[in-house]
Order: sequence, then structure tokens, then C-alpha cells
Amino acid sequence: MYFSEDLIEEIRLQNDIVSVISGYVRLQRRGSNYFGLCPFHNEKSPSFCVNPGKQTYHCFGCGAGGSVFSFIMQYENYTFQEAVHLLADRGGISLPQEEYSEEVRRERDLKTSVMELNKTAAKFYYYQLRSPQGKRGMDYLKNRALSDETMKHFGLGYAGPDGTLLYRYLKKQGISDQLLKDSGLMQVNERQGMYDKFWNRVMFPIMDINHRVIGFGGRVMGDGKPKYLNSPETVVFDKGRNLYGLNFARSSREKYLLVCEGYMDVIALHQAGFTNSVASLGTALTSQHATILKRYTDEAILTYDSDEAGIRAALRAIPLLKEAGVSTRVLHMDPCKDPDEFIKAYGADAFRERISRAENSFLFELSVMEKSYDMKDPDGKTRFFQAVAAKIAGMELEIERENYIEAVVARYQTSYEGLRKMVLNTLMQGTPARTASRSTVEREHRERDRRGEKDSGILKSQRLILTRLVEYPALFATVSACIRPEDFSDGLYREVAAMLYGQLENNQVNPARIVNHFTEPEQQRQVAQIFNTDLPTETVGEQEKAIIDSIRLIIRHAMDQRKAALDPTDMKGLQDWMTESKKRQDDLKGLHISLPRGKE
Ligand code: UTP
Ligand code: MN
Repeated sequence: MYFSEDLIEEIRLQNDIVSVISGYVRLQRRGSNYFGLCPFHNEKSPSFCVNPGKQTYHCFGCGAGGSVFSFIMQYENYTFQEAVHLLADRGGISLPQEEYSEEVRRERDLKTSVMELNKTAAKFYYYQLRSPQGKRGMDYLKNRALSDETMKHFGLGYAGPDGTLLYRYLKKQGISDQLLKDSGLMQVNERQGMYDKFWNRVMFPIMDINHRVIGFGGRVMGDGKPKYLNSPETVVFDKGRNLYGLNFARSSREKYLLVCEGYMDVIALHQAGFTNSVASLGTALTSQHATILKRYTDEAILTYDSDEAGIRAALRAIPLLKEAGVSTRVLHMDPCKDPDEFIKAYGADAFRERISRAENSFLFELSVMEKSYDMKDPDGKTRFFQAVAAKIAGMELEIERENYIEAVVARYQTSYEGLRKMVLNTLMQGTPARTASRSTVEREHRERDRRGEKDSGILKSQRLILTRLVEYPALFATVSACIRPEDFSDGLYREVAAMLYGQLENNQVNPARIVNHFTEPEQQRQVAQIFNTDLPTETVGEQEKAIIDSIRLIIRHAMDQRKAALDPTDMKGLQDWMTESKKRQDDLKGLHISLPRGKE
């Protein structure tokens, strides 16, 4: 659903950022701002700043920032749409109702009915487990070392040996056979008619991220087959899109998610304090799963079973996750089969230690590859390194290739130069030309951010000017006489500058509105950063000087860029450039900035 910018703005006005964030973070007033401990990274002293004037937040520690919308998106892991709904609710603003076609409405109604039915069934199983008839299930789960609290948290239940108990219960409530069929809770067979799909099993309700029951898994209490029975796909249950445990893991504060194979693994991990674990159920991880994971994390640690099947599953998952932008490490569980067993045998601390030693996914792939070469034979070894070189050559970034060459050299004690040459040779031999696609450039940016490198002085200067313009709109006349929005070098900055200039011309400065214009959280973060560039530690004189220096730098940079873009044979272009350059130098001559004294 599309919301107009006016509506977004109205919602924002009803949700003062200080009051919204106070619901999540303890804030203390300092000068005109509020400070608190950043909820997005671990810190001991507060560097998380909420600015009521600008209605933005910004963390000087980790760089998180944005508007009230991006705060909700970041904190709750919501999409922009979901954040709009939450804040509209909070602000008492009703959103326009979507117009649905008959067909869409019917499907939506069916989804709601199936979900309600699932909830009824989940409650039914839940009470069965806790009733005297449920003793067998309860004994089984206790035997698997699950606490009452854990069973409650995951809503575990029990389906008794009578295969029509649920059917009769639901029929008594007047549920139609059609709906029962659509829900996947029943089986139909010509001889017996309709009966329960699940019986004589302990029951695991599967929930979507909003804690709504969308399906079930049921385990035999012993060695029967199949070990687990799962709901079929229904209007509300799509195995390729749902991850067990994500409803809880989504709000864990850990940077990475643990991805494992089964129900019991997730439950055991959560019980041991690893509330950031999820599992894809009864299916291999899909690229849809990977995309969903990317919404919550940049890093997955695969905690798959240590057997052959687990290794194969990991090898399949790694490229899917990489494609979605999630980097992967692989946790070694040996000598145990799965996380559940590991925790039971060695405890949470040992598992935490394994997490810290989880292997880089590329090196994991190599150690699997290695097994198919005879590493004692010189030729076998050479062929292995050729295969390694080909893999490295397939990486997009030079720095990435370089890092992996170093890692391989360190692990396999081989010659750095030798491997590097192999990689270069492979690169020359017609692997498709590597053009810097947009995504490559973006990835490089992200990489740079991650490495914490300072961006060049030019971006900082541009941010400083934009921040100051918001704080002191009176500067606009002077600044706009020297700098035009096109002079800003980066696409995002240029767009922000153009919008801010527009607001300043109309005397309506409103940075939060500019932040909200962007719907991607990463962009919102950057825009909020643009408007929160310094800590006010300098004297007014120093601030004035910084503004003048920044203006000079921006102009020089813009003119350099323009010149670099010229065709060297374009004499006319060069002439114009020189004229303009001279004129802009002159503009700067009388430049004088004066900020109000005695403020702050
Ligand atoms: P596992 O066989 O590894 O089971 O299957 P597990 O999770 O360790 O379970 P316990 O500890 O024996 O109780 C991993 C996952 O594969 C799916 C289930 O989602 C299971 O959790 N699976 C497995 C099925 O869907 N059906 C099966 O018959 C077996
Ligand atoms: Mn297990």
C-alpha cells in the first residue's frame, strides 16, 4: 500500500521522537538533546542521541540513525509499511482502507479463518499436554530436558492416540469440513472419512513472525516413522518462507543469527539462552529464506548437523545466503550430531565458545573440497590449489581476493606469490570481464563502512554544510550563493541538498520529512547522519571557519569533477570551465560566515 508523503508527515507529527524512543530507551536530557545507551550496539556510556528539534536520532558510536520511522524499523525489525502501521496506531491516525477485489477478500478471509482454526487447535494440543491424558507427551518432553517454561514459550502440545479427538472437538464448534480440509489439520480417506492428521505425537506449533500459528510439526515419542510429520502447505503455511523460531529471534539483540536444522535444536538453543536461533523446517534453506534472514541480520552461523547430509545442506545454503548479502560461518559440532545434543553434553558456555570459533564459509568449503584431492601427491595438491584459485578468482572485489589468498596461504602453508599468480592467471583467462556493477560499488561502500574507515573529507564537509543549514537557516542566503545542490558529489547527498534547498526557500525547514522521503533503512540512516554531523565541542569561531573551509572544499571538488568529466579535446568545454572556475573563486573572496554568539 502506498502512503502519501502528507500522510506520513501527519503520522510523524503525532509521534514525537523523544516520546516514542523513551518507550524503548532510557533517555536523559543534555542541553537541547537527549542521550541514552544505544539499543543497536553494546556500550557503557551513552552515545545515542535523540534530537527533538530535528526529530531525528543518531548514534555517535555505531552510526545508527534516522527518523522515528527508521527507529521502529530498526528496533522492531519492521518494514517501512509495518512501522507506518504501528505509529499510525500509536498516534490514533486511521489509515486509508485498501480496496480489495472480491477474490482477494475471499482469500484474506480464508487465511484469517485458517489461522483462527490453527490457534484453536494449538490451544487444544496445549491443554492436552498438560492434562492427565497428556502424561506420555509430558514425560517425553521432560526426558528431553525441556523446562515447563520452555514448553510454554514455544506452545508445545500433545495429540493423543485417538485419531479423531480434534476432529470431533472442532466439529462440535461448528467448523465446516471444507475449512477443516483447507487447514491441513485433517486427513481424508474414503473408508474412514475425515480424521486427525496428527495423533500420538508431541506437537510443535509453527508461528510466523507475528506469533500467529500457521502450521504444526508433530514428533513421534520414540523411534516410529516418520519421525516428524508436518502440516502440508496451506494458504497460510509456505515452508519456503518461514523459519521456525524467527518470531523470537527477530528481536534478539545479537548481530548474527544461528541457523539450524530442526525444531528441537531451536528449542534447546533458546532454552540455553541463544534466542537468536532459527531453523528451516523439513526443507533445505531456500533463497527466499535467505532474503528473509537478510532483513534481520548480515551474518548467519550455520549450526547444521555434523553428518554428511548436514555438510551438504551447508554447502547449498552458503551461496544462497551470500547472494542475499548474508555472510556465513559454519559452526563445528563434533563430536556431537546437532546443537541439541551438544548443549546437553557440554553446556551453553562450550557452545558459545564454538560460535566464536565458527569457520569462515569459504574456508569451510575448501576443507570439504580438499577431501576430493590427494593432498600427499604433488599433482593432486597442485590441482587442489588450481581449484582454490578459480574460486578466489570468482570473487568480485580485489580486496576480497587478496584477503582470501592470505587466508589460504596461512592455512595451507603455501607460497603467497604462487597462489597469487594462479589467481591472476585464472582472471586473465577469459573469466567474464568484471565491470563495476552498481551492486559492486554499493558493496564496496558497505565494506568500507564495515571496516570503519573514515569517509573522505569531502563527504564530511558536505554533511557539515547540510547540518549547519538546518541549524541556522539564516546561512542559506550566503551558502546558496556559492553552492548549488548539483555541487554535492554523492547521489544521495545531492538529492538531500535539493530537498533542503527547497524547504529553505519556502522557510519550512523539516529534516525529518527529508529522512522519511527515503524508504530504505540504510538510506534513512545515512540521511540522518547527514543532519547530525558534529558534536558541538568547538568554539563559534572555529565552527565558522569550518563552514568556510567546507564550502571551499566542496566547490573545488565539484569543479575538479567537472573538469575530469570533460573530453580533453573539448576546447569550448574547457574554456567554459575556466570561466566558471574563475567566477566561483571570485564568489568565495568576500565569503563571510557569522553564527549567532552565546548560543549553546
Ligand atoms: P533431524 O532428524 O535432525 O531431527 O531432522 P532433530 O531436529 O534432531 O529432532 P530430534 O532431536 O531427533 O527430535 C531435522 C529436521 O528435519 C525435519 C524436522 O523439521 C526436523 O526438526 N524432519 C525430520 C521432518 O520434517 N521429518 C522427518 O521425518 C525428519
Ligand atoms: Mn536432534
